[in-house]
Amino acid sequence: MPTITEDDRVASFDLTSVNNLNHQGPEPSMSSTDRDRRVFQLYEQLLEIEQCLIPTGLHVFGRASELQEKADLLRMVASFDRPEHGAHALPKLVAQGLGIDGYDMLRREATSNDVLELIDAIVAEAVKRFCDEGPDAATDWLNSRARVEKQESLPTFQLLMNVSEQLDSNHEMDSLMRALRGEYIEPGPGADIVQNPLILPTGRNTHAVNPYSVPSQIAFARAEHTADALLRRHFDEHGRYPRALALVLWGLDNIKTQGEGVAQALWLLGVRPVSDALNRTTEVEVIPLEELKRPRMDVVMTVSGIFRDLFAPTMALLDKAVRRVAALDEPLNMNYVRRNVSEKIDADGAEFDDAVTRVFSNAPGNYGTNVNFMVIDSRWETADSLGDLFVTRKCFAYSRDSMGRTIEGREAPHLLDDALSRVEATYQNIDSFEVGITDVDHYFEYLGGISRAVEKRAQSRPAIYLSDSLSPQTKIRSLEETIRLETRAKTLNPKWYEGMLKHGFRGVAEIENHVLNTFGWSATADAVDPWIYTDITKTFLLDSEMLSRLLELNPDSVRALMKRLLEAHDRGYWNPSEEILEQLRDLAHA
Ligand code: BEZ
Ligand code: MG
Repeated sequence: MPTITEDDRVASFDLTSVNNLNHQGPEPSMSSTDRDRRVFQLYEQLLEIEQCLIPTGLHVFGRASELQEKADLLRMVASFDRPEHGAHALPKLVAQGLGIDGYDMLRREATSNDVLELIDAIVAEAVKRFCDEGPDAATDWLNSRARVEKQESLPTFQLLMNVSEQLDSNHEMDSLMRALRGEYIEPGPGADIVQNPLILPTGRNTHAVNPYSVPSQIAFARAEHTADALLRRHFDEHGRYPRALALVLWGLDNIKTQGEGVAQALWLLGVRPVSDALNRTTEVEVIPLEELKRPRMDVVMTVSGIFRDLFAPTMALLDKAVRRVAALDEPLNMNYVRRNVSEKIDADGAEFDDAVTRVFSNAPGNYGTNVNFMVIDSRWETADSLGDLFVTRKCFAYSRDSMGRTIEGREAPHLLDDALSRVEATYQNIDSFEVGITDVDHYFEYLGGISRAVEKRAQSRPAIYLSDSLSPQTKIRSLEETIRLETRAKTLNPKWYEGMLKHGFRGVAEIENHVLNTFGWSATADAVDPWIYTDITKTFLLDSEMLSRLLELNPDSVRALMKRLLEAHDRGYWNPSEEILEQLRDLAHA
């Protein structure tokens, strides 16, 4: 777990960056209404970056969290209702106390406005008072400032008290020593602290979930919002729903969220999970079209090897859901699964069992797409070869045929090729503020890999979306927006990189990792704005003081970073001025 902070002093923007926020230069003929609208959009984007919870350093094994980091975490914990602890979200309590109606709607619709800023400021101060003086000072403050009754906010502060005490203690080293001696380690659930404060104390033996309990009711309720937002966004941008969607499902994410990704797939198909007599989620119930009020979506699911190992019954549930939907007697324009399956059968006489296959993973015992390794080692020539590699690795079908026989990992590249040829939107959840799409290479290997595979097979680039399922308000962003946001909040943000540099050698490696992972999005999806590479070059390499610091700490990573930026240029993702290029080449060959 990295240490985190909310960035209250956003990275020092120069004017080029500000212009880049809207990617258009100023227009002299713009009307004053248009200008106001643009300025407001700019303000909203700045706030969005400001509100990002960003890691400002790595977690040091065995070390308890520091005060500021703790306050930020507690505020996030207090932003959600926690019915299991009888605790209410503090922003909601404050909104109620101030007599503000429709708080949820306000949050969903606006990135920010004066009312939300006021609520957030009151909550931040309450948490600060809690950290400095304890729960009484915090409840008193909320009462005096926002008329929140003490008994209403107290359960939330009791929860924060527990979390706070557990953050102060750290049993990681002790547990490691016990594990090395072969002794018993207490088990604990796996998630992040904000999603599930019960993961504390750290240093326990992380356990997963019962796959039959997935998706939970809460996960299904949240999925409804997220999947609707995804469809709305696609509809707004393209004037229609996608002919088919491709979803990436990961194991750890679905553990942490009790199956939100799974629930999103079910909701898109227009079915609900149903438990059997033993309380195992093994069935689905069809949601009538009148209730769904939109067509059922066709969803192609590629699941990770970890997901396959942990969630075998869930894969069977997803496959069952697709088959059930394909068999419904409904108009083709309201049931895209049925439409696509019948078209396939009519076009080339495919068997129903083949035409309906939608759940794919690696071969049994295999993991990953290897797309990341090809990118890391620069061992690829065309971007299409990365998409092809994705299909080669992920084309193993997991389903049950019409006779009820299980098919576990049948190699079926033609079925995945066919399913991807209809995809118009690809999508993955980001489930954690700790790990984003430029922190690790797995997002680009999966979502980037599948998007590139779709581009070749559908002969058109899909719309690529990500969710941020952790924010209280459901947000869907395009891949390009997510890369810009993460770059500004992390890679180019002095708070982030100075936090990393405190870790010396490893910190420089983290910066280099971010540049590699950013490059991975160029390689697979050509989704990185050129200014990002320019600003990275200026920040880390052309600033001589910074360059000396980096070289002192970790010259290998600095060389790798230089090589990667030159590769981005050589492969046509970035065309900087001759001056910058010359300086970069001189440095790389020095
Ligand atoms: C997973 O949880 O399934 C996963 C985690 C990291 C990389 C790829 C997949
Ligand atoms: Mg994750």
